[in-house]
Amino acid sequence: MKKYRVGIVGCGGIARVHAQCLMQMENTELVCFADIRQERAASFAEDYGGHAYSSLEDMLSEETLDVLHICTPHALHVPMALAAAEKGIHVFTEKPAAINEEQMGQLMAASEKVRIGVCFQNRYNDNFCYEQRALQNGEGGKILGGRAFVTWHRDEPYYTESGWRGTMALEGGGVLINQAIHTLDLLTMLLGDPVGAEAMSVNHHLKGIIETEDTLEAWIQYKNGVTASFYATNAYCTNAPVMIEIACEKRIYRMEGDELYIREEKGDFQKISFASKKAMGKSYWGTGHLSCIRNFYSSLDGSEEFEVRLQEVERTMQLMFAIYQSARKS
Ligand SMILES: NC(=O)c1ccc[n+]([C@@H]2O[C@H](COP(=O)([O-])OP(=O)(O)OC[C@H]3O[C@@H](n4cnc5c(N)ncnc54)[C@H](O)[C@@H]3O)[C@@H](O)[C@H]2O)c1
Repeated sequence: MKKYRVGIVGCGGIARVHAQCLMQMENTELVCFADIRQERAASFAEDYGGHAYSSLEDMLSEETLDVLHICTPHALHVPMALAAAEKGIHVFTEKPAAINEEQMGQLMAASEKVRIGVCFQNRYNDNFCYEQRALQNGEGGKILGGRAFVTWHRDEPYYTESGWRGTMALEGGGVLINQAIHTLDLLTMLLGDPVGAEAMSVNHHLKGIIETEDTLEAWIQYKNGVTASFYATNAYCTNAPVMIEIACEKRIYRMEGDELYIREEKGDFQKISFASKKAMGKSYWGTGHLSCIRNFYSSLDGSEEFEVRLQEVERTMQLMFAIYQSARKS
């Protein structure tokens, strides 16, 4: 079996989850790590084996890699993906795929040269897959609309201690591009092609501390007259389960955290049961990283199709750019 030689750039919180997934897989070999805080790369090298570097540039010039995992601040994802693509190295990048349209165009162009995977791991959640199939089969009848709520808590140190979060230059936005992007993606996977959005954003609880929004609401129009109400905030008191609800003619589907509830025309909501899975990192990152990363590697040898198709990632990203454009005008 071919073993893919893998490097990780950005050795912070989420990179540990990537490393743990890669260590569980039979067809990957973690060989190097890069972080501008070299002690972090060194700590990864100590824990997982391999070499440590203080820059991506040095790592790419010294190592022969098949795949680069990008776990750095948002604005660096695309430049780093381009550097890898230039050398024919496939890329698996954390979300968001890009922070603006220009970067998104560059990433799409790079995908002509190498395989680009984006970590939208929530697409592998059991409740989402079940509901997606049901909607595709038309089980609830015509889709009428949707609503989604992300009500989480992020406090001052989360931003001030990171060196990048809360800045327009490196994070590229706030709660939408960082925390709620998964929810926007799932909503769009369920409702189809967006055709417009009106939005407003505000900073409620970290005014003067971060440049980006802590709260955003949007009214999104999809094809065929379907609309969705979308609300995301980091100013809530705790990390409540994300809620996504799709109203159809004959049924309402409500995902809440890992759960799925279905209500027939007149009855009560019934819970659908799924086997419980354990998250590798923080519980709100979900359980999908391993499935997503495994699926990406299976797509490299052609044994599976990668479920997170780049065209659908681009669709979510273009919607996000349109929402920000509207919010920043209002
Ligand atoms: N998919 C998910 O559920 C999920 C969850 C958490 C984070 N993320 C994403 O993962 C990425 C990283 O987030 P995090 O929470 O791990 O952040 P973090 O701040 O903990 O880690 C980022 C690391 O990148 C390093 N870095 C910064 N600039 C660099 C450069 N030029 N070269 C090399 N290394 C550099 C930092 O020193 C830091 O160690 C972000 O895109 C974030 O949105 C995704």
